[in-house]
Amino acid sequence: MTTAHNRVAVLHGVNFDILDRRDPEVYGGLSLSELEGRIGSWARELGQEAIFFQTNSEGEFVEYLHRVPEMADAAIVNAGAWSHYSRAIADALDVAALPSVEVHLSDVEGRDEWRKVSVFDGLVLAKIFGKGPDGYREALELLADKLGTSA
Ligand code: DQA
Repeated sequence: MTTAHNRVAVLHGVNFDILDRRDPEVYGGLSLSELEGRIGSWARELGQEAIFFQTNSEGEFVEYLHRVPEMADAAIVNAGAWSHYSRAIADALDVAALPSVEVHLSDVEGRDEWRKVSVFDGLVLAKIFGKGPDGYREALELLADKLGTSA
């Protein structure tokens, strides 16, 4: 059952609409709807309600973050390449002031130098990367603990 304090917004940024067309060696070959399906099931198992958003527009991502505190109690953010340089998105996440976890499917620390930088440093509870879709499950568990909704 959905109760207050268990709604988790899952935000995907640029190029996630074409996740199934990106290098399967790096991203696993899943489509975004398959990924969201898995996240939704894990959330239900944990007694959470996941709500999903994806855009390729940085401005829309920022505007969603402006509204997110009205819709959710916590957030999981995979902003794709924006994670490495968009101070605008980091500022908006800061203002949203929700418990948040940064997730990346791939091992951002073991790839290009520029992917090691994250604008969300200091704003998120954790940065989970290199675990594929399972990283989202870990993020949901962490947020369930934080929100006090774990079984
Ligand atoms: C990504 C990692 C980013 O460096 C990249 O730009 C993406 C996907 C990931 O989930 O591994 O678009 O966020």
